[in-house]
Amino acid sequence: MSEIDAQRPPTALAAREATYPFAPDAEVASAMPPALEALARRVRDRSAVVGVVGQGYVGFPLAQLVAREGFMTIGFDISERVVAMCRARNEEPAYSAEGTFDRLRNCDVVVIAVPTPTRDDDGGRHPDLGPVRDATAAVAAHPLPSGRGRLVAVESTYAPGTTRRVVAPLLDPAGAHIGTTIALGYSPERIDPGNDRFHVANIPKVTSGIDSASASLTELFYRQIVERVAPASSLEAAEATKLLENTFRFVNIAFAQEFDEYCERIGVNAREVTGLAASKPFGFMPFYAGAGIGGHCIAEDPYFLREAIIQIGGGAPILEAAIENHQSRAEAVFRRVAEVVGAERLAKSRVLLLGVSYKPNIGDLRRTPALDLLALLEAAGAAVDYHDPYVEEFAGRSSLDVVAADPADYALAVMVTRHRQFEPARLRAAGWKLFDLSDSPGRPRAGAWA
Ligand SMILES: NC(=O)c1ccc[n+]([C@@H]2O[C@H](COP(=O)([O-])OP(=O)(O)OC[C@H]3O[C@@H](n4cnc5c(N)ncnc54)[C@H](O)[C@@H]3O)[C@@H](O)[C@H]2O)c1
Repeated sequence: MSEIDAQRPPTALAAREATYPFAPDAEVASAMPPALEALARRVRDRSAVVGVVGQGYVGFPLAQLVAREGFMTIGFDISERVVAMCRARNEEPAYSAEGTFDRLRNCDVVVIAVPTPTRDDDGGRHPDLGPVRDATAAVAAHPLPSGRGRLVAVESTYAPGTTRRVVAPLLDPAGAHIGTTIALGYSPERIDPGNDRFHVANIPKVTSGIDSASASLTELFYRQIVERVAPASSLEAAEATKLLENTFRFVNIAFAQEFDEYCERIGVNAREVTGLAASKPFGFMPFYAGAGIGGHCIAEDPYFLREAIIQIGGGAPILEAAIENHQSRAEAVFRRVAEVVGAERLAKSRVLLLGVSYKPNIGDLRRTPALDLLALLEAAGAAVDYHDPYVEEFAGRSSLDVVAADPADYALAVMVTRHRQFEPARLRAAGWKLFDLSDSPGRPRAGAWA
């Protein structure tokens, strides 16, 4: 099945549905089959063994939580480096990490939390479902002993229709087990790494299943580990929920950036205006312009939605405009830095980037806007250093010891991401000329928002 088929919504795939038994509206099981009923009991009494495939930002904290809640839990990852890191960071006796899949054969519940990046090709960015396919194939290749029930729940973000059209056929090629011994669910992950207030256990979990037994088991499993569950009526509704959440942020941040540029030109502080507008107790949600978006959620997921809309012949002009805005953000930010320093002086200057991860209080560099800014500064002739307490190495250099460094050697320190360790007043008092591009000052400190 091609990626295009994967993204196509149920209505456009009517012809194909005849070849696969789990059509969108098919009522596979109204009562729980015996093997899944027995699994439900093991989930309730927590004797079920849980495997989490993919031990990154999503999978590892989830596996730790599942283990803390009393399930024997195995974290699987194809990266030896990640497995070693998980073993070193593990805090739960019921947790172990594996670099091979053999022990998947013991897992009654398997959660898939592998990456869903986008690839840059054909002049555009397209979803890459390779890791989801590989992880699903690994689960299928390591079944439980015959007759025993298993729940497979996917957490990776992708377009509506993907669980049904890509995951299900890989998991159960003959269509013989889903609905009898395999329950298949989808539950998008909403974790916000670095957020001190909301974490995996207290963010409500949207759950769904390919049939009623799968939906019930998925909901039951997550009820054991998180505070609140929000069941969706279909896999597609749950899949679409995640894309809506992140595309909503993507579009609104683009507008905040557009508004910020306008305010800059008329000499008004957009952060102040946004803060004032937020004093209205209803109908307004503040978004702030920063150095640009990054990471593997906000900066990736809208491309899944765009491709899905295009594939059914739809249009997404608002989303396209937001994409254009984000793509030109690095230049807009660079222009401001160049204005502050002066273009001529910049070519002979040293600039310090403060905070190079894409968001506060973590070291995640995926699609960080700091990289584009660094490239533009270097292209303009500037020498660029960085300081980031969470990032040891960035763009072939090491984090500068900001206490030992002499601020007089730098034309400007540009705060790209404001980690909790950064105190602008203290930096200024130490002699740094600071230009704060981060989106933090307009809102309370990280962890206190939302
Ligand atoms: N990071 C976030 O803040 C966040 C939040 C919500 C949702 N998500 C979504 O959750 C999913 C996982 O994201 P992440 O940030 O944890 O990614 P990540 O890159 O941090 O971790 C994924 C892990 O999966 C491993 N992996 C890749 N292919 C594998 C395979 N076939 N078998 C086993 N392991 C494999 C990788 O080695 C990596 O360690 C993505 O779909 C992402 O969009 C991420």
